[in-house]
Amino acid sequence: MKVAVFISGRGSNLQSLIDGCADGTIPAEIGLVVSNRPDAQGLTRADQAGIPTAVIDHKAYTTRDDFDAVLDRTTRKAGCTFICLAGFMRILTEQFVRNWRDRMINIHPALLPAFPGINCHARAIEAGVRISGATVHFSRPELDAGPIIVQGAVPVLPDDTEDALAARILDVEHRIYPLALKLIAQGRITVRNEIVRIDDAEFVDGFMINPLP
Ligand code: GRF
Repeated sequence: MKVAVFISGRGSNLQSLIDGCADGTIPAEIGLVVSNRPDAQGLTRADQAGIPTAVIDHKAYTTRDDFDAVLDRTTRKAGCTFICLAGFMRILTEQFVRNWRDRMINIHPALLPAFPGINCHARAIEAGVRISGATVHFSRPELDAGPIIVQGAVPVLPDDTEDALAARILDVEHRIYPLALKLIAQGRITVRNEIVRIDDAEFVDGFMINPLP
């Protein structure tokens, strides 16, 4: 399975996927890294791993359709049949998302369907939730929506700043994104009626209470 990873910045989730593919945990190959920003740090990570990169600057296109058409063409040309969105900060057109239905996944730093969209850490703190986390899901045309593959939970602490919560969640992201891609690459994932089924998975049987009783 040849995968394209779309990024816009730091690329720490990209790195977790690169590492998982390199050490054999994920039976897939990252065939292309696409960034809409020429200065994305993730491009350096790809270079260091010897992965081809493409910069497709959205500012060079007048419409989303034009931009997405180039994304699509570039991905296919590289022989990639699957897309991982990893901090890609552009909203994709409905057409693009439909074309890649069940072949494109995203990671979001909240427990979806709670707190989709930007500033989700600040909004989680403001809402006073005691538990938050991260979600890997198949993409659907609505932002940060679609069948959920893996979630990881972390506590929200009383004195949390946005940065502190983001850092705690990022650790979880780096564990669940490689896990989700591994399950897909192993052919263990099916989507039926918008619910993900995982063959042979062991599920947590218990609960987390925060604060402790
Ligand atoms: C991550 O928190 C991801 O969940 C969100 O954007 C951030 C990207 O970080 N969609 P990185 O570029 O992977 O380091």
